[in-house]
Amino acid sequence: MRQPLSSPTRSHEPATLILGDKSYLLPVIEGSEGERAIDISKLRDQTGHITLDQGYGNTGSCESAITFIDGEKGILRYRGIPIEQFAHGATFIEVALLLILGHLPTDAEYDAFSKDLTRFAYLDEGMKHQFEGFPRTAPPMAILSAMINSMSCFHPELYELEDEAQFLIAAARLISKVRSIAAYAYRHSRGVPYIYPDPKLRYVPNFLHMMFSQPYDQYVCSDLINRAMNLILILHADHEQNCSTSTVRMVGSSGANLFASCAAGVCALWGPLHGGANVEVLEMLDKIHQGNMTPEEYVKLAKDKDSKVRLMGFGHRVYKSFDPRAQILQKVAEELVPQLCGSDPLLEIARRLEDIARSDPYFIDRNLYPNVDFYSGIILRAIGIPVNMFTVMFSIGRLPGWIAQWWEQNHTPGTRIARPRQVYVGNRQKDYLPKDQRG
Ligand code: CMC
Repeated sequence: MRQPLSSPTRSHEPATLILGDKSYLLPVIEGSEGERAIDISKLRDQTGHITLDQGYGNTGSCESAITFIDGEKGILRYRGIPIEQFAHGATFIEVALLLILGHLPTDAEYDAFSKDLTRFAYLDEGMKHQFEGFPRTAPPMAILSAMINSMSCFHPELYELEDEAQFLIAAARLISKVRSIAAYAYRHSRGVPYIYPDPKLRYVPNFLHMMFSQPYDQYVCSDLINRAMNLILILHADHEQNCSTSTVRMVGSSGANLFASCAAGVCALWGPLHGGANVEVLEMLDKIHQGNMTPEEYVKLAKDKDSKVRLMGFGHRVYKSFDPRAQILQKVAEELVPQLCGSDPLLEIARRLEDIARSDPYFIDRNLYPNVDFYSGIILRAIGIPVNMFTVMFSIGRLPGWIAQWWEQNHTPGTRIARPRQVYVGNRQKDYLPKDQRG
């Protein structure tokens, strides 16, 4: 069912490392798109040295056949398919299955998975009661992580995924229930009754129904919103070894179950430098809109290192020319906002910020371009998603990627528990002193 890892080809030219008067040959491997890596897995045994790479900017943590990014050329592909090709009518579930199965789903695979999504959409009543324990002001990302983790308690039979059939059931449970959890978290924060999933609705309309319907007053999702929301989720679905995905892999490498690993991914995604940036972008745009600052003043502040302010939604560790997801989302924002709200002053401010930054040497020299978070919030806002749910939307989108990466890791021969080393810079050995002898 799943594509095997395309095995890396060993290059003929190993790298030579010279340390003092000794030299060492290190194997060089090459991935299917020509990216080369020096294999240092025996380095410490051979030389007594380790490598140091803060933030892992130059460290490949795994071999993966799921997503390819060429940051210099602005390329992003899922299982080989360019991201742009999903922008014209693909559904999120189709892309989720592409990532998970390794191929575009057949009708039979799609239908079977869709049926599972429908039958798993309900939350156990015991789980529902857990929402009551959270304060109304609880951040939805905290609730999401806690609830995904607590799914392990309700499905202990899925701790150990024996075969692909069981794995697909766990994946469907997660992908289905995450939207119910997200919608319930939102409704809890508003103090309004939970709305049950509607088995007649597809994935996105069902989520929006659980978010926005009122008893006896069903929310109807327009085609425009359905397409935009599917696209947003698709564009977030995987991004190779980013912070949250690496977290999922790291936790999973200890043998932790899929639910626990994905719950950890939610926590990593929450941070403002990662998925939380979509919230920060909206707050930044709103601050400028409130008249606290002009776009020019904000950009000036973002260039001042002492200010600790960054132009949120700009810059990326990997993309150094443009983020293809941002380009697609900008077009969606330009099309959707006029149709849904006429105009949005925040969109105008975003355009202005982008113009200023893209003609400023500070941003040009550092290759800082709008990333996926720059325009996504404007679209979500136009759809009616509240700002504190933005990163939750990112999580729903990223979940299939986490699931696919977790499974791939578990089925890659030679996978070991993730356990980086460090360069210790603390005290040399010293003695313990009893309290009365301390200075
Ligand atoms: N505004 C101002 N300066 C920036 C920005 C920014 N948004 N991003 C990077 N820089 C500067 C940074 O100060 C540094 O300057 P210098 O070389 O003079 O010290 C240089 O650019 C390189 O930055 P870095 O922090 O070393 O780059 P990184 O690869 O470690 O960080 C990043 C990448 C995305 C965390 C960073 O660009 C950033 O903080 N951006 C704003 C937050 C954001 O939008 N995050 C969403 C990322 S995309 C979606 C996701 O991954 O979840």
